[in-house]
Amino acid sequence: MARRLSIPGLVNLLEVSDAREIRRLDAEPHLDRHLAPAGGLVNRLRLARLRQAFVFDGEPLPALLAREAEGRASRHAELGRRLEERTEASSWRQDPAFKTLVEAVAGQAEAEALGPAAQGLLGRLFRDDYRADEASYAAARLLDAYPRGNVLRALGQRLTGRLRRARRLLAERARGEPLALHATGIAVHNLVASLTAMRELAATPQAHGLSLAAVLGRTLAAPETLLRRVQAPLSTPCAPRRLEPGDLVVLRLAQAARGSGDRELAFMGQSWARCPAQGFILALLAAVWEQAMAVRQGGRGA
Ligand code: HEM
Repeated sequence: MARRLSIPGLVNLLEVSDAREIRRLDAEPHLDRHLAPAGGLVNRLRLARLRQAFVFDGEPLPALLAREAEGRASRHAELGRRLEERTEASSWRQDPAFKTLVEAVAGQAEAEALGPAAQGLLGRLFRDDYRADEASYAAARLLDAYPRGNVLRALGQRLTGRLRRARRLLAERARGEPLALHATGIAVHNLVASLTAMRELAATPQAHGLSLAAVLGRTLAAPETLLRRVQAPLSTPCAPRRLEPGDLVVLRLAQAARGSGDRELAFMGQSWARCPAQGFILALLAAVWEQAMAVRQGGRGA
């Protein structure tokens, strides 16, 4: 159900968590991703936090770029093609981190191993020598949580330099490449959440009887929220009153996708902003699950 929060000069926000409303709003040309200051005080603070975390060298990270941002569509299409090749070659099998992911999902390695292993595997899609460890994964967690944390904690992270250090470490490891930074700083958390859910499912008695589709339906983790900003006045059946420029629209994607088994929605597969990693991630998760089940049954495994 849509929820409107409107106090003039302070906050103007529409939140939706219904799959149909999310798709309808996402298709509106008057809604876009823009981080420049606009709207009431709370809207501005929210946008400021996103800029502080996710703008590097003056540019928002890839999944925060506006629809018409120069090169966005072609760069992401190119990434999609590259990841498709990797998927066809099952290239993750050569990465030592793949074995760690399998062992952790099978319950033979600690759950804590998932984060650095997933980050390393994603980083090496972009740089053969990408190195992930506890510090780089902790930095990614800080970056991801920063825009959502409470005001005092966020202020503390800025004043003590923790945010700056986390950003610097991630940028160094990714050698400043925006797509690598996105994958290892932000997207990694959806992969880790999916693998963590798989680990829990794998430990249950019914795990072996489940089809792959059922496993992915239960475990695939979508981003918690996607943010859009209103660019021009917009009347929509999803909002009781007209939306005005500067209003924020929060698409509560995880809630909409949770348990629905709708994989297209989890990756916004029908959107102008669709995730170029959808095929790769689904194939990787499938491979990890199959190998982990084999390990648990005492088979050959990874
Ligand atoms: C379980 C894992 C993942 C999920 C569920 C996921 C989901 C999504 C979603 C929902 C969007 C749309 C964002 C929006 O509409 O504002 C998106 C965008 C994007 N994702 Fe993913 N993602 C995952 C992993 C990855 C990985 C590993 C990469 C990189 C290797 C990646 C690269 C991107 C890029 C570049 C965009 C921006 C697309 C554009 O605006 O053109 N994602 N992702």
